[in-house]
Amino acid sequence: MRLRRRSFIAGAAAAALAPAQRGQAATFGTLRAGVHRVQLAPDPLPMTDVWAYEGRIPGPEIRVPQGKRVTQTLVNALPQPTTVHWHGIRIDNVMDGVPDLTQPAVAPGQSWDYDFAVPDAGTYWYHTHNRTVEQMARGLSGPLIVTEAQPPDVDRDMTLHLSDWRMVDPAQIRTDFDNRMDQSHAGRLGNYLTINGQQELITEVKHNDRLRLRLINAATDKVITLAVQGLEGWVVALDGMPLAAPKPLEPSDLTLAPAQRVDLIVDVTATQGQDAYLIEKLGESGYLLGQFPVRAGATPRRDAPEPLPPNPAQATLADLDAPSAPLIMDGGAMRGLRRAFYKGDLLDGRALAQQGQFWALNGTAGLPEAPLAEVSLGDTLRLPLQNNTAFPHAIHLHGHHFREVLADGSLGPWRDTILVQPATAREVIFVADNPGDWLLHCHMVSHHASGMGTWLRVNA
Ligand code: C2O
Ligand code: CU
Repeated sequence: MRLRRRSFIAGAAAAALAPAQRGQAATFGTLRAGVHRVQLAPDPLPMTDVWAYEGRIPGPEIRVPQGKRVTQTLVNALPQPTTVHWHGIRIDNVMDGVPDLTQPAVAPGQSWDYDFAVPDAGTYWYHTHNRTVEQMARGLSGPLIVTEAQPPDVDRDMTLHLSDWRMVDPAQIRTDFDNRMDQSHAGRLGNYLTINGQQELITEVKHNDRLRLRLINAATDKVITLAVQGLEGWVVALDGMPLAAPKPLEPSDLTLAPAQRVDLIVDVTATQGQDAYLIEKLGESGYLLGQFPVRAGATPRRDAPEPLPPNPAQATLADLDAPSAPLIMDGGAMRGLRRAFYKGDLLDGRALAQQGQFWALNGTAGLPEAPLAEVSLGDTLRLPLQNNTAFPHAIHLHGHHFREVLADGSLGPWRDTILVQPATAREVIFVADNPGDWLLHCHMVSHHASGMGTWLRVNA
């Protein structure tokens, strides 16, 4: 009796489930990369030709609850092959979007399904990973927000995506993407910064409102320094990962290397009739990025926020006695590469320059045949980062977060990208808890294009 009934239910359930499952497969969102014209420059100026996801600058915000899946079909309507990289996510290696390492680049007219779980909450982003300087400089990036089951108590949650554009009259993107002067110096630096695709964001707030600001540096190469006025609060997360304790916001906290993110929780301390501001700091002066006209508010000032719940990624324990794989950065203007391996041959500086290679990691320009290190799943690895060049570099590891080993032996916050200043040594440590081949590169993408990339293998 019971058996029959169960089989009957199974049959009915199967019938009911079949269309539902098909429906689920159909919930793949479309992320169409195409050629568009948008109003990027302020109004009397003409529209700008861009490459954009879904015709939008930045690309649409993908918001997904922690532990769920992102399912997006990339449709390539560009005149070049492309891929999508999901920056900062502890992703399945096959979904990482790195051409020739984890997938072939998707040809024009073709599509590619991305389907992966997001184990950690926080502020992430997605961007092209093919001909990245050109494709990102033309507009191909967007925010990826993984929400906590219990989000912090705030009045607004705002994503602020910063892009750096090199414009020429009349409001068109300059197409010197392989400019060797940029590559051998600080990279492609723009002359026009946008916040969520606009020159300036204007949003009304109330006195004592509590805002969560998710700042993303989506510039190709620019280190962005920010300041706030009329807003006071805390840094609560870096590169998606919560700090163990919210850290009072100081101006020096607000330097974002390319690809870095910071989550702030700030209270509007400016009073009714005043404005609060988000500013790009340039020496003693600054450019207005965000203007928040303040209305009267009823809420009294609140206590410091609770820390955000730690992510599963932060449960791993690094073994400080682990082996090291040093990463030595050489080259660039003023230090010049004397020689380096490139595609298996030892070339002198002039021959490297002819190949558009200006930087080397451990004596090799471009992606080496062999990984920087090969480790087993669960192993800890230390990465001493030695910058022998005259420029800062933003070193990013795919598929993992690391911590800095500080001078006193303690460990810094979790990050996926670290800014290493010229003639400086830093060291990071991480647990290789995600199997696959993972890129390790400078996220000043002009530097990556001209030599600064290597990879690690994590064996399952
Ligand atoms: Cu933002 Cu290789 O990545
Ligand atoms: Cu660099």
